[in-house]
Amino acid sequence: MTSPVIARKEPVPVPVEAGKDYWWCACGLSKKQPLCDGSHKGTAHEPMAYKATETTTVELCGCKQTATKPICDGSHENL
Ligand code: FES
Repeated sequence: MTSPVIARKEPVPVPVEAGKDYWWCACGLSKKQPLCDGSHKGTAHEPMAYKATETTTVELCGCKQTATKPICDGSHENL
């Protein structure tokens, strides 16, 4: 598996708290999208840390094609 799996063709809103770390699933296999559940083991992919700078809701990438990982950049519209 070299290319990530397209988990969803839309971003996933995630409420985050300032100062906390979140692990974004980069492989697309997690059952807890868009966050990592360890399913990447054995693949070439690793989760990406996202540190929240404020308490808000962020739109994390669900298709795994974004160029601004882990935030959605609209790439899912071209799939
Ligand atoms: Fe996808 Fe961990 S489950 S990166």
